[in-house]
Amino acid sequence: MSAAKPATLITGASSGIGASLARLFAEHGHDVMLAARREPELNAVADGIAAGGHPRPHVVALDLTAPNATQQLGEALRTRGLEPQYVVNNAGFGLLGRAETLDCADQLAMIDLNVRVLTDLSVRFVESLARHRGGILNVASIASFIPGPGMSVYHATKAYVLSFSEGLRRELKPKGVRVTVLCPGPVLTGFQTRAGMCDKHYPSGFLRSADQVAREGYEGLMKGRSTVVPGMQNKIVPWLPRLLPRAMLADSVYARLRTWEDV
Ligand SMILES: NC(=O)c1ccc[n+]([C@@H]2O[C@H](COP(=O)([O-])OP(=O)(O)OC[C@H]3O[C@@H](n4cnc5c(N)ncnc54)[C@H](OP(=O)(O)O)[C@@H]3O)[C@@H](O)[C@H]2O)c1
Repeated sequence: MSAAKPATLITGASSGIGASLARLFAEHGHDVMLAARREPELNAVADGIAAGGHPRPHVVALDLTAPNATQQLGEALRTRGLEPQYVVNNAGFGLLGRAETLDCADQLAMIDLNVRVLTDLSVRFVESLARHRGGILNVASIASFIPGPGMSVYHATKAYVLSFSEGLRRELKPKGVRVTVLCPGPVLTGFQTRAGMCDKHYPSGFLRSADQVAREGYEGLMKGRSTVVPGMQNKIVPWLPRLLPRAMLADSVYARLRTWEDV
């Protein structure tokens, strides 16, 4: 029997959807550990949570793609007397541009964070998630459902997150561990700047705030839902591959992204 306290580990909690998820878990009484690279931003999120009268989250500033980063997170939890009840794999980024012209190392780093690190943290703590009857919230995207010429590698990483999470959900069912995959449409966060699309405009009906997306993800996880797509308009996207040939979808995504950039 472990004496460690149950906690929620949230990656990419220094901004955007991850920061909103951190506030939400803390408001619901969870002990939270926040991980990302930018320590001042992580501390600002933690201070804001503490100012709201909740226990101050633990902060671990690290590059999740660095060698042994996921082991370090495990160690950081252990030394604080914590073990995961929930793991929220939110850290991720995208890049706008054709795969052939974008920097190859940047794209491989995207695969490393969006796929390898997410997979590692999804399987690393299963025994403690089971002990505390908790679960995993993996952040994918509506990009998971459709091919994405002009952002091909990003769409492919998010297709992986969706498929992996659905498979893992079935595997972990006998252990009582929930797995939910959150598939947001566009949300104005640091994502657009990092992807090189900060001056681009989305159809307003598709936009959601980080807080709205986090709330739907949190509720979906707690209710044991498999997939959460926030926003009415965005809910159409998972149906598109059933209604249209994938090549036609690829053409229409490419046509849209080409209006943004010469991709
Ligand atoms: N915004 C959208 O339109 C949208 C739509 C669908 C899905 N998503 C997904 O939502 C998730 C959160 O993104 P967001 O929109 O909230 O964007 P964001 O504000 O840029 O947040 C990304 C988070 O990931 C962290 N991160 C990036 N690289 C990291 C690394 N190497 N090591 C550790 N942490 C790292 C960033 O922190 P540091 O920079 O401090 O490391 C930041 O906290 C991502 O998985 C994204 O793909 C976003």
